[in-house]
Amino acid sequence: MHRTLTLSGLRLSLMIATLSAHAAGLTSEHSAFGTTSDGAPIEKYTLRNSHGMQASIITWGGVLQSLMVPDKNGKADDVVLGFDDIQGYQANPTVYFGATIGRFGNRIAGGKFSLDGKQYQVPTNDGPNSLHGGSQGFDKRVWKAEASKEKGWVGVTLTYTSPDGEMGFPGTLETHVTYSLNEKNELRIQYRATTDKPTVLNLTNHSYFNLAGAGSGDVLKQVATVYASTYTPVNSTLIPTGELAPVAGTPMDFLHPTAFGKNIHADHPQLKFAEPKQGGFDFNWVLDTKGNVGKLAAEVRDPQSGRHLQLYTTEPGVQLYTGNFLDGTVKGKAGKVYPHWGAFTLETQHYPDAPNQPNFLSTRLDPGKVYTQTTLFKFSNK
Ligand code: BGC
Repeated sequence: MHRTLTLSGLRLSLMIATLSAHAAGLTSEHSAFGTTSDGAPIEKYTLRNSHGMQASIITWGGVLQSLMVPDKNGKADDVVLGFDDIQGYQANPTVYFGATIGRFGNRIAGGKFSLDGKQYQVPTNDGPNSLHGGSQGFDKRVWKAEASKEKGWVGVTLTYTSPDGEMGFPGTLETHVTYSLNEKNELRIQYRATTDKPTVLNLTNHSYFNLAGAGSGDVLKQVATVYASTYTPVNSTLIPTGELAPVAGTPMDFLHPTAFGKNIHADHPQLKFAEPKQGGFDFNWVLDTKGNVGKLAAEVRDPQSGRHLQLYTTEPGVQLYTGNFLDGTVKGKAGKVYPHWGAFTLETQHYPDAPNQPNFLSTRLDPGKVYTQTTLFKFSNK
């Protein structure tokens, strides 16, 4: 009797120890990350769990600066492209490594749209079009940060108030972005925004993933599945034609696991628009999950390292871009260079150019309404 009691007492105290080890396993800390060219101090928040996953977020651009994920042997590597210092981010304004994109992810044709009969012109910074919110988008702003707490998650909330008319967009936009990590190796990004005038917005995260490790070569052997039966074809300036076209019979068919490299060289006009010389993916897939965050939207596996990324999102679309404009000239973290096709992005979003496309889901936000988005990147390594 005495022995049984002692044993269960021991078992109980072991359980308590494990539980508190788990709680203690989720930690966050912050440190300085240098100063911008105009003297603004930048901070870095680092979230950790007890399985070797670690995410670092900086207050410049709401950037996911590094993401350590263990491989099948337990060896952690940084799987996102980026820079070691703030100067790297400021010196490379058009790559958007890891950035929070706003006010409008992807393109707006001619930088023009109208709301309630009023015309707006936002900066054109991508040929004739506006890309990722214009030349000084959310990726180039200094965000306020605060550690966030929620049972089972450790996080950081970034806040930015974009003044009425900033980059040509109407309304004062109050934006919150929360990055959180849990013990299931899930990195979650939650967005929340409100406006004081009717406006349009399309927020996303522009992380470039390479599951074999950032700077370890191209991603052509990594295998993707995108649960999307249609995509939005584009014209030569990457503006959607307005059509939702079936992926069947095209290189955009990722309904079954397919290596990025399998059809990237295909002689298909859409691939030529995305990357005229060598081909590449840079399209918006219309997710069959239709905004159901409980359903798997896309996944990518790296056969070599065993790392596996699964994507869940409330957004109706995802821009899958294979780093077609990387050319080995950008020197990233630890001096590594990022070659052509050296990463892929999974930018969860509403469809590009939605403000000018009557058939696309609306990106309008009115005063009194709240914009929300949840996107979750889940990692495993078998
Ligand atoms: C776009 C690409 C662009 C890249 C910016 C992607 O979201 O679709 O065309 O080059 O962002 O680096």
